[in-house]
Amino acid sequence: MATESVQSRRSFLGKLLGGSVLVGAGGLLAAAYLVPPPAVRSALGGSRVRVGDAGAIPVGQGRLVLVHDDPVWIVHLARGFAAVSALCTHRGCIVRWADAGRVFHCPCHEGLFDEEGNVLAGLPRSPLQRYPVGVVGGEVFVVARGPAES
Ligand code: FES
Repeated sequence: MATESVQSRRSFLGKLLGGSVLVGAGGLLAAAYLVPPPAVRSALGGSRVRVGDAGAIPVGQGRLVLVHDDPVWIVHLARGFAAVSALCTHRGCIVRWADAGRVFHCPCHEGLFDEEGNVLAGLPRSPLQRYPVGVVGGEVFVVARGPAES
């Protein structure tokens, strides 16, 4: 009778230990899923903002997104993605991306910028501000700590 009790206790402890290992492994998998991969953290820092799937923006097209309430154009260029502020540097109007000409056009005073945000024509004297941008795991991320140095 006492031997059965000891074996039963050992069996119970063995199951308990095995279950704990499984729960611990499950927790690690969940943490790995919730925490961004190191490539995202190291390449773009902790203030990155996911702005969408890279495949959703064909080459030559752009998408206007908000990055911490700032309007930002994400444009898929032949060399990769670019992210530039949508605020015109003349008086702050929202510029529009033109797929056909691959330029940013400001409707307020006919300002014109190239696909990198450099001034081509009109009243603006400064380029559109650029943001660091990257693609990790098929998703586009923009660094939201503020416009990058031009
Ligand atoms: S606000 Fe854009 S050109 Fe004047």
